[in-house]
Amino acid sequence: MKVLHVVGARPNFMKVAPVLNALRAHRHVVQILVHTGQHYDANMSDVFFEQLGIPAPDVNLAVGSGSHARQTAEIMMRLEPVVLDGKPDIVLVYGDVNSTVAAALVCAKLGVRVGHVEAGLRSFDRTMPEEINRLVTDRLADVLFTPSEDGDINLQREGIPAEKVFRVGNVMIDSLVKLLPVAQRQIRNELPERYALVTLHRPANVDDSAALKSILQSLLDVSRDLVVVFPTHPRTRQRIAEFGLELKLKTDQLRLLDPLPYVDFLGLQSRARVVITDSGGIQEETTYLGVPCLTLRENTERPITVSLGTNVLVGRDPKKLRAELALVLAGKQKKGTIPPLWDGHAGERIAHVLAG
Ligand code: UD1
Repeated sequence: MKVLHVVGARPNFMKVAPVLNALRAHRHVVQILVHTGQHYDANMSDVFFEQLGIPAPDVNLAVGSGSHARQTAEIMMRLEPVVLDGKPDIVLVYGDVNSTVAAALVCAKLGVRVGHVEAGLRSFDRTMPEEINRLVTDRLADVLFTPSEDGDINLQREGIPAEKVFRVGNVMIDSLVKLLPVAQRQIRNELPERYALVTLHRPANVDDSAALKSILQSLLDVSRDLVVVFPTHPRTRQRIAEFGLELKLKTDQLRLLDPLPYVDFLGLQSRARVVITDSGGIQEETTYLGVPCLTLRENTERPITVSLGTNVLVGRDPKKLRAELALVLAGKQKKGTIPPLWDGHAGERIAHVLAG
């Protein structure tokens, strides 16, 4: 049996690693790894491969950045001959990035089976590019692996036959469980005991100068109470420079860093007093870690992190952020539990479905 994996952007890498590993135990499975090159900076890609023990890709499509249409189209054009040559029995796609939907489209048109890892998540907000990617990918997929019950319910509502859907749990948590002990051994002496960890990269938050300015002002306010550590996504760093917002950000209390490697970031998350983010995956990681998470979005495709976990949606309302932060600092934060099947074995369950 031949399985071809397609990954492209940072949040894909911690998801593919456990599946590659688990399938390795099935001797009759041959694996091919394709990197689309959607993310290409060493600190957005190579270092993740190293730390997660992912082998070098068999093929790198080197598509780089571009508008959504251009990036998606480039991936499709460059992937098609690879799939035709490789003749895989199934192509696995991960998450909700442009590489995911592009690969699903190519395979669906070639009549090659598609498996979607992290299927069924919905924010019900079609202004998010990822929501379009999720809807199209799930529609086209032949096998859908969901992380939690809400995923199954969404797919059922959309008329996806139940026999295609397998609730396997959260693969990203597999990587977390494996590397947390390593992450916790990394001591960062330069950090105080109490700090807030921040990430920010959603187009809705960073591409609009007024929205970005208001969020940065809120972070400056937060930094009066505790040190703010802010590894900055390339998109966000570019926008900060473009909108001329750099100068006011240079304080000892608000520390802008380059994007961090997986293990380093995990270590920082596990010890943070609070995480403030607009990421999807970080809402899940903080829920597993029991660390309070304040999410700078009006909605989430990961509602289980709110219903069971430590996540609170604060949207873009600075007052709400301040109020929730005050609760955290007073030790009155929401207590969460870990969702079912977020146990470090999702990759094995996927391998079992695929390879028996
Ligand atoms: C992508 C995903 C998003 C995911 C995020 C994680 C889509 C639609 N979005 O968003 O779901 O949460 O990755 O990081 O697929 N850039 C670099 N170096 C890189 C990569 C990007 O400088 O290695 C810059 C480029 O200027 C690029 C911009 O960042 O134009 C945005 O990159 P892109 O891949 O288009 O989207 P992300 O914002 O990273």
